[in-house]
Amino acid sequence: MTHFGFCKKFKRFNPLEPSLGILGFFLVAVCFICSLFYLDYRAVTHGFSSGAPSEWISWLGLDGSSSSSSSPPLLSGNGRLEFLEEGGDRCDLFDGAWVWDEAYPLYQSEDCMFMDEGFRCSENGRPDSFYTKWRWQPKNCNLPRFDAKKMLEKLRNRRVVFVGDSIGRNQWESLLCMLSSAVPNKASIYEVNGSPITKHTGFLVFKFKDFNCTIEYYRSPFLVPQGRAPAGAPKNVKVTLKLDQLDWNSPQWKDADVLVFNTGHWWNYEKTIRGGCYFQEGKKVKMEMSVESAYRRSIETVIDWIGRQVNMSKTHVFFRTYAPVHFRGGNWKTGGTCHLETLPELNSFPVSSQMWSHLNIVIDVLSESSKESQMMNLLNVTYMTSRRKDGHLSLYYLGPKTGPAPIHRQDCSHWCLPGVPDSWNELLYALFLKRESIRSQNLTEPFQAQV
Ligand SMILES: *[C@@H]1O[C@H](CO)[C@@H](O)[C@H](O)[C@H]1NC(C)=O
Ligand SMILES: *[C@@H]1O[C@H](CO)[C@@H](O)[C@H](O)[C@H]1NC(C)=O
Ligand SMILES: *[C@@H]1O[C@H](CO)[C@@H](O)[C@H](O)[C@H]1NC(C)=O
Ligand SMILES: *[C@@H]1O[C@H](CO)[C@@H](O)[C@H](O)[C@H]1NC(C)=O
Repeated sequence: MTHFGFCKKFKRFNPLEPSLGILGFFLVAVCFICSLFYLDYRAVTHGFSSGAPSEWISWLGLDGSSSSSSSPPLLSGNGRLEFLEEGGDRCDLFDGAWVWDEAYPLYQSEDCMFMDEGFRCSENGRPDSFYTKWRWQPKNCNLPRFDAKKMLEKLRNRRVVFVGDSIGRNQWESLLCMLSSAVPNKASIYEVNGSPITKHTGFLVFKFKDFNCTIEYYRSPFLVPQGRAPAGAPKNVKVTLKLDQLDWNSPQWKDADVLVFNTGHWWNYEKTIRGGCYFQEGKKVKMEMSVESAYRRSIETVIDWIGRQVNMSKTHVFFRTYAPVHFRGGNWKTGGTCHLETLPELNSFPVSSQMWSHLNIVIDVLSESSKESQMMNLLNVTYMTSRRKDGHLSLYYLGPKTGPAPIHRQDCSHWCLPGVPDSWNELLYALFLKRESIRSQNLTEPFQAQV
């Protein structure tokens, strides 16, 4: 929710506004027709479902029975390997397509107490719910169906820690909702310090009492600390990012059992240098350093810290890559829009260079530090997420009494819940289970050898 404040300053009359509705309708219609062709083509070539026209009508909710049925996901019978089977880990989970699935969403926002008001799109007035119905289907294998009970059992006496910016918080709240859906007694889930979820504190720790497990979020948009400039720095340096250190609360991260990093959305000129935030290494402020080089340095620091501080046999480390924004015709402060986007991009998405440069820096740094990168999982969500222009909050981030927001103040960075971050967590779930099963195999193997 961090950058809405900036939008206030930008109240420009937009001459296109009255026609947006018409334009939007036209775009939706075109998307709809294109998607029919596309899905039908997929159905023929890949054998997903029967492809009967009545199904398309049903999935558009035209027959009025859209969300009530809960048919099993179309997983079996498509000839793909199960990811959890032996050899399944050779499958690239991040190469695939979004497919319509009546069994989704995995929960309803009304049933989840552990979610910021800002992510509750349908409660905040978003009329369509298509965006909750897409499942990520990897090209060469099938994901296990998310089973909250199973995950909670595996997490017994353990800690899951999310560290990052507000998109990381978006994902953390998604996981809280996914897991709590399997716990009937909601009072057994609570924040250990009694902080409400809306409170923007440095961190929030939710405990699932029956499982003695905590799901934690530490706000650290840059992962490296931001603080006062050193003595003698030039006048225009207000604060610095200390690129060779990890954020102050990192001692609390390192003993987690599952550790999920993300960073990206704050690494741009507007949120750093323009506001007087420069980059520092040792005692020296690097006045000439570009945001990209600074981002690279910070990722190197994170990887180095993981190598030195984290016990990789205990902690399962994930790095989630940049989640693209979808402002069209501008950015967050110049009237960019994603409102009225109701379908995913079914083919390729015109990607911004910033998005790829972030991804490439992470991949580059990881390939240079082979020990750590072999042990950790990249949640390489950039590409799959780039197609989900339909999943953002757009106008629906204000509570039902205040919203929706004015058309020139759209949020095309954060995601509605239920929605896209649930899919990231399903991938996290699959990779987590895979590692758990390899671990238990390693433990039992000597026995099997003797039998
Ligand atoms: C609960 O979990 C924590 C780790 O998160 C562990 O240190 C502690 O021993 C567990 N308590 C019990 C009673 O098992
Ligand atoms: C790392 O974690 C493993 C598994 O929990 C444990 O057996 C080992 O003693 C730990 N190593 C260190 C150095 O703490
Ligand atoms: C991440 O995904 C992108 C886009 O699909 C791909 O180009 C890249 O190779 C992937 N990187 C890794 C390390 O898997
Ligand atoms: C399991 O054992 C294999 C081979 O002995 C080893 O390479 C791998 O790192 C082990 N995995 C875990 C999670 O301990």
